[in-house]
Amino acid sequence: MVIVHVSAECYPMAKAGGLGDVVGALPKYQNKLGDKAMVVMPMYQTPFLKENNWDVQYKGNTNLGNWFFDYTIIKESTGKLGYDLYLVDINGLLDRPKIYGYTDDIDRFIGFQVAVVNWLSHWGELPSIIHCHDHQAGLISFMMKYCYDYQRLKNVKTVLSIHNAQYQGAMGWDKSILIPRWDMNKKGLLEWNNCINSLAAGVKCVDKVTTVSPSYMQQLTVQSNGLELLFKNEQNKCVGILNGIDNEIWNPATDKMIPFHYDFNTVNEGKQKNKNVLCAKYNLDTNKPLVVFIGRLVAEKAADVLPGAIQHALDKTNLGVNFFIIGAGDTSIESALNYLVQLYPGHYNTFIGYDEKIGHEAYAAADFLLMPSRVEPCGLNQLYSLRYGTIPMVRDTGGLHDTVVDMGDAGGFGIKFLHANETDIVYSIERAIEVYKNKKQMKAMIQKAMKIDHSWESVIMAYKKVYQSIG
Ligand code: GLC
Repeated sequence: MVIVHVSAECYPMAKAGGLGDVVGALPKYQNKLGDKAMVVMPMYQTPFLKENNWDVQYKGNTNLGNWFFDYTIIKESTGKLGYDLYLVDINGLLDRPKIYGYTDDIDRFIGFQVAVVNWLSHWGELPSIIHCHDHQAGLISFMMKYCYDYQRLKNVKTVLSIHNAQYQGAMGWDKSILIPRWDMNKKGLLEWNNCINSLAAGVKCVDKVTTVSPSYMQQLTVQSNGLELLFKNEQNKCVGILNGIDNEIWNPATDKMIPFHYDFNTVNEGKQKNKNVLCAKYNLDTNKPLVVFIGRLVAEKAADVLPGAIQHALDKTNLGVNFFIIGAGDTSIESALNYLVQLYPGHYNTFIGYDEKIGHEAYAAADFLLMPSRVEPCGLNQLYSLRYGTIPMVRDTGGLHDTVVDMGDAGGFGIKFLHANETDIVYSIERAIEVYKNKKQMKAMIQKAMKIDHSWESVIMAYKKVYQSIG
């Protein structure tokens, strides 16, 4: 099967969150298992672009409303990623340093999708599956089926994977002129709530919808930022498939980004050595349990609750624990978190920003990973943490519900709580401190955690079934 993934992110070319990790790994493992999978994404001005060599694959031209533009498709020249990576270069529109966050993002991603569909329509032999990810690729299926110029693509099967339905790419009808000449009778397929809604259009038009965990699939019918009814109606073509993780990148026995390697047998000593290094660097107490938070500092991840909960936990436990926060996001949350550094020297620190290496060091050093997310479609951090023998403390929602078993339940290896509030977080920290003191129980949990297999190989088969069901 020839599978073309269309996405706004793909690690290591450009990543803002878990979407990048997933799109960077899924095709690699699909290829290993015998299919021909590739990725097409926008050409941003990222370090990866500058540090690698690219071949020109195709030059084309099309228009975005009244603006006629040339685009170039370039391809990573060595194939070292394990899949072909194609970038769409549209001068002045996509070639910027950041992925998102510009006032013309709507135009940028429609431009990207138009160029992708235009390029596909020039392929000799067409691919078997176009696999779109999130709303930035949500209009592709509509364009393939209902734009007059792209009728050649109308029978190619399409899949949409939803990594986060909070973001939907909604826009006013004035933007409809940006979509290449389309069949006006199909207006209803673009519409949700009197707007053009890219994610809703994707859900309506594709052959199959996937979300990144089974529980999140269920949740979308009751909580999806306005699309609940749509997901209820379309349930029959939706399926939840839990993400995998790239075990080649996330392996404490070989990870080049961590100071000391360890495996299942050497985890106790290995983690302590990594913890000593991190604690020395960030002025933390290496003899107390270390709880880390790694993620975007936004309400969706309940980062707004962290400053109060951390203060409360440090006071209540008489500094019985350390916290280390890595992330960036809302400036008010960043400053509230930074403020605590002066109040709790020796037990609390932050790294405001995003840095892949510090993330890896923290997974290797920490005893616990805190994820109080309000919304978590899958969550990859808890999966990384399991692999590094770091006990996940998670709110019981979405993919966190599906991947963590509380230590009070049979076979448990984590800590789960119900609410994204201070009380539940502080109580969970107290539970963490207790179990940390019980060396035998802690060791047994760590070993259980490290044995859990979330590798991509098994996930690939689930996607293959989805493709076959529509193929
Ligand atoms: C998004 C979701 C996250 C998921 C990731 C990859 O970032 O918020 O839960 O793990 O996509 O699918």
